[in-house]
Amino acid sequence: MTVSNAAVATRGEHNLGDESSREAVEELRTLHKRVEELEAHVLFGEQRRRAMLHIMMDLTETNRRLSDQRRAMIHIMGDLRDTTEEIRRREQELRDKQEQLVQTAKLATIGELTTGVAHELNDPLNNIGLYIGNVLDLMVLETWDSERIERDLGRAKQQVAKATEIINHLRTFGRAAPRQREPVEINRIIDDSVSLFSEQFRLREVELVLELAEQDPRVLGNPIQLEQVLLNLLNNARDAVVGLDEKTIRVSSRLGQDQVQVLVEDSGPGVPKELEERIFDPFFTTKEAGQGTGLGLSIVYAIVKDHEGQIYLDRTAEGARFVMELPLESKAV
Ligand SMILES: Nc1ncnc2c1ncn2[C@@H]1O[C@H](COP(=O)(O)OP(=O)(O)O)[C@@H](O)[C@H]1O
Ligand SMILES: [Mg+2]
Repeated sequence: MTVSNAAVATRGEHNLGDESSREAVEELRTLHKRVEELEAHVLFGEQRRRAMLHIMMDLTETNRRLSDQRRAMIHIMGDLRDTTEEIRRREQELRDKQEQLVQTAKLATIGELTTGVAHELNDPLNNIGLYIGNVLDLMVLETWDSERIERDLGRAKQQVAKATEIINHLRTFGRAAPRQREPVEINRIIDDSVSLFSEQFRLREVELVLELAEQDPRVLGNPIQLEQVLLNLLNNARDAVVGLDEKTIRVSSRLGQDQVQVLVEDSGPGVPKELEERIFDPFFTTKEAGQGTGLGLSIVYAIVKDHEGQIYLDRTAEGARFVMELPLESKAV
């Protein structure tokens, strides 16, 4: 299709002076120009076609990739569903294990407390024996002093009630804690826990200081679990002070804006800085085998967290000071 410029020029030279041939040359030039234009047009069209083809190929590729991605997405979503179910299952498992752990630790606590409780029961039983002995003496002597008899039997009965209370308390504590929450008077929990230790503290000459908030703060929770927290902290405080000259344990409750703080602190050496991060870990213990399980604080942590509270070590204290914060009943969700 191409008509070269050289050919046009040659023809033009040969026919110079000839009008019609000049016209022909002119016409040829115009024609040639048109041809060039058309060629350019065709070329442009061809380029466009090629570009179009390219775009279409790209589109096909994109489509293919999209459908691959869609398929991958469906896969991932399936996986995700499986993973979520797995996580849910694991969580439940963990919760069950945690409950088992709490239960085991409770039994261990009961074990540790048994000596103390034996002493605690010893008192009322001795007293009951004395009062009944008195009454028997009166009977043997045939002195029917009904006033004295009534008084002594009355006292014996009180002592029976006291012994029963101690045993009942241990029994409730030993039972698996129910899940539900109820309003709990935090001071009462402190009193109950401390009373289980009173004999141990007395025998070891540990001075116990109680500073309870006057307003009697209440939280929403599980009394048995909360008592477990106190018992574990008291256990550790006792371990920290035995053998020292100064043996003081202080337990206090403080009412805050929307929470109550419970502090358990002792005059012991405190927790070394490098161990602070680890003491709440399960099975972490610095005590000799048979002395500590390393479970106490991890259970404390789990229970407090379950109550939407927090527990931490207050570093400003000289000895160890554990601070537990729980939302007040009115603020709890
Ligand atoms: N009051 C405390 N004073 C000093 N160290 C403590 C105190 N309470 C806990 N600890 C440290 O934290 C560790 C973990 O405590 P815990 O979980 O109760 O386990 P265990 O009492 O069986 O060792 C203890 O071994 C001890 O090193
Ligand atoms: Mg402990």
